[in-house]
Amino acid sequence: MERIEGFSSRDRLERIQLLASIMPNSGNWVDDLDSHRATNENYQQVYEELSENMVGNYHLPFSVAPNFRINGMRYHVPMVTEESSVVAAAAAAAKFWDRHGGFTCRVQGTTKTGQVHFLWEGNEEKLQEFFGQVQSEMLVQLKPLTTSMDKRGGGIKGLQVVRLPHILPNYYQLQVQFDTADSMGANFINTVLESLAGVWTQSLAGNGTWPESWRRVEVLMCILSNYTPDCRVLCKVAAPVNELRDMAPNMDSETFLSRFTKAVAIAQGDPFRAVTHNKGIMNGVDAVVLATGNDFRAVEANAHAWASADGSYRSLSVATLHQGIFTFSLELPLAIGTVGGATTVHPMARHAGKLLGNPSAVELMQIAAAVGLANNYSAVKALVTSGIQSGHMQLHLSNIATQLGANIRERAQIKEHFRKKTVSSVAVKEYLQQLRHDKQDTPFLREG
Ligand code: MEV
Repeated sequence: MERIEGFSSRDRLERIQLLASIMPNSGNWVDDLDSHRATNENYQQVYEELSENMVGNYHLPFSVAPNFRINGMRYHVPMVTEESSVVAAAAAAAKFWDRHGGFTCRVQGTTKTGQVHFLWEGNEEKLQEFFGQVQSEMLVQLKPLTTSMDKRGGGIKGLQVVRLPHILPNYYQLQVQFDTADSMGANFINTVLESLAGVWTQSLAGNGTWPESWRRVEVLMCILSNYTPDCRVLCKVAAPVNELRDMAPNMDSETFLSRFTKAVAIAQGDPFRAVTHNKGIMNGVDAVVLATGNDFRAVEANAHAWASADGSYRSLSVATLHQGIFTFSLELPLAIGTVGGATTVHPMARHAGKLLGNPSAVELMQIAAAVGLANNYSAVKALVTSGIQSGHMQLHLSNIATQLGANIRERAQIKEHFRKKTVSSVAVKEYLQQLRHDKQDTPFLREG
């Protein structure tokens, strides 16, 4: 396609029209794209301001997995995902574990890290000594930025200078530990770090007792770390094996649990399996993260760094059978919030918060982890019993029927026909063609 000029300076409709004008066969592209806009003008305004160069709204289903019992509380959990079967899988596991004690979750800490990366040439011991002398004054200078967060129980919780010569010569970091209360805190952390870098640069420059070259520092960058091993949540389900009688159809519970724990052990040891296993966990975590307006890219990067923390990529969950007790647990770092950014601005994220009873960030971490564990349970259960495709493809069938433009009556016939048959796009297409062909042969059956 040809080059576009001045795209960002046009309004939304002008952008759509411009794209249509350079598109071969644009057809009703302009009207169709525009038909996805919100009918509520205030909401539409919010969507148009969330991102740049916006041309349309991209809808995903906002679903609910009901009846999650977490630490004795009941939640009906909003989930946003494009993948059929994820919500059904979460809901099925929530229902099963509701009968067996529910999910127990604990947040292991809420500390996040930010880094000022800098280069400095001089004597490290002297630098550390100087840092010790100016540290409190630097924190005082940051007070205008931190007071409001301090009042909410957050703020700066620690500050160190660390030398990392194995990465680069003369390379140091100011490492800062933060608590960001109920916000995810990225903007707060980055703002504080950039100010801190300025304060640090000035402090060094003002040290008149040092040689000139020691008073200069090159700040490379200031940014939060999305790896939060000290902001972590642990979630588990557990029950005596003799109470778990109804776990899997057509399989006794002992056999099922033995196969289940082996499948999880494989994901602990084999990275090829572990990635898919963890993807099944993130199916649930991401759906909650998206529904509540949180940053799913940060959540994903964080989880996978933790999964490889010991040098090998491993399953985030562990299953054990010990002294007659089955335990299935998940531990992952999770930096999400319930105030600020899209969590507050996005209309659907606000609905999600309301549905969850406007939880704190700590509560939301527990909810997201519980849903991740629930999805993982259902996926591994399906894998070691019926296989993933029987349940999965039945739900996928509906998407295929939609893609093929099947009407309501045809969809019902397709669903019935494939109830016990192997589903594939080709098979559904052929069956639909057959249906339409048969209908032409029997005019009295034709729909009005
Ligand atoms: C599909 O979205 C997720 C699974 O592949 C997870 C797994 O294999 O454990 C079913």
